Parts: sequence; structure tokens; C-alpha cells
Amino acid sequence: MFRFRRYRMLLICAFVITMLLYHVSKNSQWDRSSEFWHGGAGLNVEERPRPYSPPASEPVHGHDHNNQAGTDVGTNGDEHTFGPHDIDHPEEPQRGSPPPPAPSTLDPESTIQIAQLKSVDQEGAGYGLPTKAPTVPGWKTPNNHAEPQEQNKVVSTEAAATTSTIHWQKPKEWFPVPKESIIPLPTGKPQAIPAIQFAFAEESPTDKEIRLGRLAKIKTEAQRAWSGYREYAWTHDELKPVSKKSKDPFCGWAATLVDTLDTLWIMGMKDEFDEAVEAVRDIDFTTTPYRDDIPVFETIIRYLGGMVGAYDMTGGDPKYRILLDKAVELAEILMGVFDTPNRLPILYYNWKPSYNKNPRRASSHSGVAEIGSMTMEFTRLAQLTGEDKYYDAIARIVDALEELQNREHGTAIPGLFPEHLDASGCNRSAPLPPGPQHNSPGTPEQVVVPPPPNTGFRRGPQARRREPRQKRAATPNNGPTTRDPEEFPPGWECVPQNLTVGGWGGGSFSMGGNQDSTYEYFPKQYLMLGGLEPKYRTMHEKTADAVKEYLLFRPMAEGDPDILFSAKAYSSDGTTKKMTYEFEVTHLTCFLGGMFGLGGKIFNRPEDVEIGERLTDGCVWAYESMPAGVMPEHSFVVPCKDPTDCHFDKTTWYRAIDPTSQETRDQQMEDYKANMAKWKVNVEKAKAENALAEERRRLAAVAPARANDETEVVGSTKTSPVERSTLETRDFPSYETAPKPGGKLQDIMDAASNNVITVADQQPLDEMPLPIEPLRPLTHLEYVEDRIKKDHIPPGFSNLRDKRYILRPEAIESVWYMYRITGDRSWQEKGWRMFEAVIRATRTDVAHTAIRDVTTKEPGNEADMEDSMESFWLAETLKYFYLLFETPDVVSLDEWVLNTEAHPFRRPK
Ligand SMILES: *[C@@H]1O[C@H](CO)[C@@H](O)[C@H](O)[C@H]1NC(C)=O
Ligand SMILES: *[C@@H]1O[C@H](CO)[C@@H](O)[C@H](O)[C@H]1NC(C)=O
Repeated sequence: MFRFRRYRMLLICAFVITMLLYHVSKNSQWDRSSEFWHGGAGLNVEERPRPYSPPASEPVHGHDHNNQAGTDVGTNGDEHTFGPHDIDHPEEPQRGSPPPPAPSTLDPESTIQIAQLKSVDQEGAGYGLPTKAPTVPGWKTPNNHAEPQEQNKVVSTEAAATTSTIHWQKPKEWFPVPKESIIPLPTGKPQAIPAIQFAFAEESPTDKEIRLGRLAKIKTEAQRAWSGYREYAWTHDELKPVSKKSKDPFCGWAATLVDTLDTLWIMGMKDEFDEAVEAVRDIDFTTTPYRDDIPVFETIIRYLGGMVGAYDMTGGDPKYRILLDKAVELAEILMGVFDTPNRLPILYYNWKPSYNKNPRRASSHSGVAEIGSMTMEFTRLAQLTGEDKYYDAIARIVDALEELQNREHGTAIPGLFPEHLDASGCNRSAPLPPGPQHNSPGTPEQVVVPPPPNTGFRRGPQARRREPRQKRAATPNNGPTTRDPEEFPPGWECVPQNLTVGGWGGGSFSMGGNQDSTYEYFPKQYLMLGGLEPKYRTMHEKTADAVKEYLLFRPMAEGDPDILFSAKAYSSDGTTKKMTYEFEVTHLTCFLGGMFGLGGKIFNRPEDVEIGERLTDGCVWAYESMPAGVMPEHSFVVPCKDPTDCHFDKTTWYRAIDPTSQETRDQQMEDYKANMAKWKVNVEKAKAENALAEERRRLAAVAPARANDETEVVGSTKTSPVERSTLETRDFPSYETAPKPGGKLQDIMDAASNNVITVADQQPLDEMPLPIEPLRPLTHLEYVEDRIKKDHIPPGFSNLRDKRYILRPEAIESVWYMYRITGDRSWQEKGWRMFEAVIRATRTDVAHTAIRDVTTKEPGNEADMEDSMESFWLAETLKYFYLLFETPDVVSLDEWVLNTEAHPFRRPK
């Protein structure tokens, strides 16, 4: 019996040691769960240092408060929606040049087409989307990534499979804007707008040589990424750069191809451009096998912006007219999203004709970035086609945003919008007035489902919120036109209301993911309209003032650099009285330097240009602080108490990493001492028992009859509250650590993970295991140093919540703006260091990949690679790197304005 137990004990110990080794080798992952708790400890406003104070010489800004939209990637209001899908196509064409285009079989008039498919793999691989993964009526794009593949397999089995492909069809309009009410593009002579770019002088021959050398290196990397895409993922949305497969999260309309068009043009890759334009010809925007809903924001910034920008770059060359035609084709489909009573857009558009039988409303929790970032693309399209309806569509959104920004108590931070807005136009808490026309029993309540934790991504599937199917409701009386109420489904009516704060996260404000580009577009839209619409200026100024007042802060960093970041603020009561802050540093927020620089130049706010530089330097600092030289996706820093007199202080930094109070730590030590005393007693007891057992054995040996004694002695020592670095250090439950043979394995592992040495291990044969010695709790210093070592936390950071770098552009974007605006060559040097670090960390055999951990000095190994290359890598990141070393006349900011996906649109002359 004893013997058996002992062997089991040995086995368990061996297992535990193996686990220990494993954890040690992977300690960064090991500790991930703790990051959440330690990092973003929001400070109360009382303890909040003044985030930003203008230089003494500057006048303090008053608050003109407007409301801005925060954003969250939104959701569709009243139809089911599904997330984007990461779909692999392992059986897609692998090598050689792109396949010949499949004939376009689109018949826009027919709802359902029956397509005869020979083989999914061959026919139009990548081109004729309907043939790739056919849909059948009622088939819903599953969230399970594997399923579409299954579909492929089923269909591609040998002989011809018959399947029906559903196409979008122009729906009847429920709430058309009467011709006479269409808001036209502003007309007149464009206003004089101050020059944005620095007046660059001739460069020296040496400078030129260095610059051209760098330019060539950047182009080589772009060519590499493009060839990888062309070879392994042609006409799919994205290349998977490690596995050399493809995926289609954006409806499978060749997102990377469309997004890269103008980059190819700018880099002088003319043949590649022509080939890509030909491929655009064959994209069928009227159908997709991958999703039931079109993600409107992503589709507009990447596809619509991509085609319009590329067309503009060619100078409107009739040879490339197809780009504009396809943009119009896509825009016509997207116009359906504005067919709501208040003309505010649906953000996830259920495009199948079966969804268009009933009227719809915009979502009651629309993401701000999504709702506010359509303006530039539709404005440029209206300018290029002369169709005011495209401008009307977005002008109504901006009017609603402006009204909310100016409304008294419209949002908690005057001037800014919270993450979500209620764009439904329906006040569901207001009772319907009685009347004969209200034949419905009442307004159905919306189902409210708590949102998932905010991941803070502007793009990508992670950020999506889904709204459950919503019952239709409300009267059509707040739309531009009305219809016979009989036509509307029961429960449609509701009391109308304007755009308002709503949905979840109603009180969260930041310049990061889900909110960013709405603000970014105010000054850019001002440029698009040649300054003829002054509201964009006031909206920008209110935003900038509010950001300075409420969000900007200086971090405490080694060497005391004069840099800024923008925090995330939460209001708990709808005002600025009770605010909590997260001093976060996210890659997405890095666009803000460029925005302040641009706005500062065109609206003559020199202080803003300076702020733009300090914000951009913040991101450069974050890059250079990391072992890989690349900034992580999401981290936290320590704010300065006094932004004008701030010195790096290790004690403060350590305190931010470990906010556990000294009192708590003292208590832990007290408990430990008490437990130690108990443990000693128990050890003595166990020894005594063992001695007794030994004595019995001796007697038994003497007498042939063996004493049949199975008395167990179990050490029952309580350990002190043990420091467990994976948990917040608040409440440490005491738990039994004595590894009773047959006791809970988890306990043993817990003990082992805390480096408890099992004394039992050293017991001679047939003796009782002694109780485990309590673990001494870590001191503050030990704890912090352990975390810094395990998590590779650089000085100044309190937490690295998300260590990935996913090829994002925002930092180099701002660096480029700063270079073009200030003419300071040091920005080129900073950008070049970023480029070298990024390439070193992300290069794969065939392209570049998102990486998991920027705190590894030697990234580059496959385990650290995410196998993902989003379309913005070629569309934005490499383009900005390239433009930083191009001559300033190439995409001059005085002639061009770039959308949030870096697609250049021509400014009016
Ligand atoms: C909705 O209606 C309620 C009740 O009539 C009212 O108190 C509230 O202010 C309304 N909300 C909005 C945003 O108009
Ligand atoms: C709603 O917006 C309109 C302008 O679009 C404005 O005239 C009206 O006062 C607003 N209503 C409320 C209740 O804020």
C-alpha cells in the first residue's frame, strides 16, 4: 500500500517537474492572464495627473465642446450578421501566373442564378467567386472557419455539381430621398488653404544617394509581398504568408489586390498594375460565398477607396475607366445601407434579396469609426461621377454627427463621441402616442446582450460586435419620405429621435480603434471639399480641443523624452465629473500625430503641429523601446504627475507594475510566518508518526505476523498566501498544499508552479511524506523584477497586454506626415529604423507576416508568426515607408488627401 502510493507520488512529481520546465520555457505566455489585471489599472480622476498642459506661452484653450463619435466596429441593426471569416483555401492554385479570368456570369436582373460547376478548384479559381464556394439559398456563412472549405470539398467532388448562386439585386427603396431634397456637393471656388508641406530645398548628392538606396530597398520588399500574394493568393482577400495559403475575410473580392493598386502605381510597377486592373474587371461585387453581410466600413475604405484612389492616381486615364465603373458598381450596392428612415447607414449589410423584403433601421449601437468614415470615398465618387446622391448619403451622417456634437449634454465629453451611437432613430423608452394608425401592440423591446471585452481593433474580425436579431419597429415619420403605414410590418413604429449616445460602451472615449477615423476624416473632408463646407473645420477644432483637454498625457519614460499619448477615458455618469482613465498605448492611435499635424497646418493652429510631433515621437519611442524595435499592439505606460516637470522614477514605475499595497504584502508575510510555525509542528508530528511506523515494522520483522496497519498520516499544512504571478495580487485564498496522495492534482500543480519542493520526494522507502513547506510570498521588489524579466517589460511600460505587431501602418503614417509637414530629415531617420526593424521581424519566405511578440529579440522563427498579412501592409504600411523616401512632389499633401487606408484622392484645384 505504502509502496504503491509512493510510486504514484513519484509519477506525479515527474509530471509536475515536466510542467514546470514547460512553463519556464514559455513564461511569457504563462503570465498572459495577469497582464489584463496588472496593466490597465484605471486611475480615478482624483489621482489622475493632468494629462496634458499646453506650454506656458500658449493660451489655454477654452472648451468648445462638440461631440465626437467614438467607435466600435458596429453591427447591423435588424438583420442577423456574421463575423468575417478566416477561410483557408489549401486547394487553391499554387504556382505559376494567375489563372485566366473566368467569364463573368453576372446577370444583375435575376435573383438566383444556377451555375453549373465543373470543378471549384479550377474554374475561375479566385475570379468567379460564385464558383469558388457556391452558396445555396439559406446557407449561412458559418463562423466556423473550417466550414466553407467543407462546402468547397462537397461541391468540388468530381462531376458537375449544381448549385444556385444568389446575387444582390437592386432592392425597392423604402425611404427614397426626393430629388429636390438631395444635398448637393458644395459649389464655388475652392477656398485658399494654407500649404501643408514644407518648402523643401534641393537635396545634396549624398543625401540623394542614401535616399534612393533606401527607396529601392523598400520597393524590393513591396515586390516581394506582392509576388507572394500573386503567386499563392491571387484574387483572394489575403495571403497567408507562412503557410502560403489564402483567406477571404472581406467577401473574397480580392481585398489585397484592390487595396494595393495605387501602391503599385506609385512604386512604378506598371505591368503589375495593369495585370491587377484586369483582375478587377472580373470581381463580382453582387455576390459572395463567404458572408451574408457586407462589412460596410471595411468595404468602403479598402475596396471603394482602393479603386477610386487608383483611378485618381492614373489621372483619370480612360484606359483605366474600369476602376471607376467598378467603384460605381460597388457603390450602387452599398447605397442600400442608407435606405433607413433617418438615412443613417446600416453597417453590416445583408445583401441577399431575401433580406430586402422589409424596411430596416440603422443599429442602436453603431460603431463611431464605422458610421463616420464613409465621407471621403463617397464625396470623391460624387465628384468623379457628378452624382450628388453619393454626397447626399454621407452629408446626412455628418449633419447628424454635427448636431450631436453641438447638442448640450449630448455626450459625456463635449466635443467627442463615445464608442457607440444609437443611430436607429427610435426612442424605445418613449411610449407611442395613442392613435388609430398604431395598430401594433407596442414597440418591441430590444434584446440587450452584454458586449464582449473591447479588443480595440479598428480592423479585423476581432473588433466586430454582433447585434442579435432585432425586432422591427417604429414609424416611418422621421424619414425624408413617408409611405402608407399599412406597408410596414407590425411593431415598426416608434417615437423618433436624433442620433444619440447608445449601445454598449456608451461612456468610453479614445482616439483608438473603433473611433479613430471618424475624427481623422473631418480635416481630410475639409480638404476634399476645397474648404467650401466650414462645418468640417469646426468639427475638427472641437475634437482637437477636447482631445487636448481630456485625453492627452505625457508618459514617464527613461531619459524624460517630451512625448505624448492619448488615453482612454470612461465616464460613469455621462459627464466629465467621474472619469477613469486607462493610460494605454495602442498602435492604432498612432495616426493621431498625423491628424494633429494636418489639422494644425490647414487651420493654422501651430500648437497642434507641435502636439502632432510629440504624439508621433511617442510612437517612435514605443517602437524603439521594444527588443524587436517594433511597437506592440496594445500596452500601458505610466503617466507623469506633472507633464511640465517629469522625471523617470523607478519607484513609480515599479509601483505601476505592481499596485499591490505594502499593507497587503505585509499581511501576506505575517500569514506566511504563522503558517511556517504550524508547518514546523506538523513536520515534527509526521516524523514522530514515521518513527512509530518504523518501530512497528521492526517489531513485525521480529514477529512473523506483519502488523497490518494502514494508518495514514497526512500533513495538513496551510501555506501562506502564496504569490502567484498569474493572478491579481488582491485576495489570496489559502489552500491546502499538502500533496495528499490521491489529493487534487491541481493543488499539487499549483504548489509545483510555485516552486514548492515536495519534501515527500526525499523520504526513505515506506515513510509518510512530510507536509510541504509553505512558500514565502514575494516582496514587491521580487515580484516586479520577476515580471519585468518574464514579460520583457521595458522601462516606462507597466503592462504589455497584446505583444503582437500585425503589420499596421499608423506609426509610419504619422512619421511621413511629420516629414512632409516639417521638412525635418530626422523623421526619415526614425522611419528608416522602423523599417529595418519591421522587415527583420516580419519577413517570411514569400512575404511578410504579423508576429506574436515584439519583446523577443530574435523574432523571425515560425512559432512567433501569425501567418497573416492584412491588405493594409501593401496598401498603407509599405506605401508610407516608400513615400517617406520619395521626393515630396510624389503624392504631395497640397494636391492629394489620403483616406484612412492610404488611398490618395485628388484635391480640388
Ligand atoms: C426618449 O424618451 C424618453 C421618454 O419620453 C425621454 O425621457 C428621453 O429623453 C428620450 N431620449 C432621447 C434620446 O430623446
Ligand atoms: C434633431 O436634429 C434636428 C436637426 O437635424 C434639430 O433641429 C432638432 O432640434 C434635434 N432634436 C433634438 C431633440 O435634439
